[in-house]
Amino acid sequence: MNFFELIAARYSVRAYKPDPVPDALLAQVLEAARLAPTAANRQPFMLIVLRTAGLQTELKRVYNQDWFVGAPLVIAACGLPGQAWVRRDGKNYMDVDVTIALDHLILAATDLGLGTCWVAAFDPAAAREVLCLPDTVEPIAFTPLGYPADDLRPKERKPLADLVRYEHW
Ligand SMILES: Cc1cc2nc3c(=O)[nH]c(=O)nc-3n(C[C@H](O)[C@H](O)[C@H](O)COP(=O)(O)O)c2cc1C
Repeated sequence: MNFFELIAARYSVRAYKPDPVPDALLAQVLEAARLAPTAANRQPFMLIVLRTAGLQTELKRVYNQDWFVGAPLVIAACGLPGQAWVRRDGKNYMDVDVTIALDHLILAATDLGLGTCWVAAFDPAAAREVLCLPDTVEPIAFTPLGYPADDLRPKERKPLADLVRYEHW
């Protein structure tokens, strides 16, 4: 799969097979996240790998969808705002850094035949409890990680003309 085939192949997988993710593949997707660029190379993120077996009830408090706990693994992408680069006007780039790292992981997973789905509509208070997060850490997004049990759907996207302008607004 070349890069353009890869980004076309990624989709939000909302049904998973229970088959385990081999440790070697997990290591590869985590390495892809590690290699992500971050502002000023601060790397202000922590990925928490959760094995869903036996943890389904807790995880459904975080995001109440059967498919979320149907995969053998769930990855929580957390940010450490105190470690992130802050622009002179005060804008903290932690969200951007975490997003790039998780997107690296997600694209690597696609390349390896694994499914993922960005999840932001989770309950942050439940996430804090289940993950035992200290106050200095913010949960940003989750994804299940496992073999897809559904199929790629046609992508619905705005035309490029609605998304790109040249020279000025
Ligand atoms: C930041 C972000 C948050 C998202 N949160 C959720 C979510 O909470 N639940 C969900 O089912 N899908 C979620 N999605 C998936 C989007 O709905 C999906 O990416 C979009 O509809 C395009 O479909 P595709 O990923 O299959 O190409 C999220 C995607 C992104 C990028």
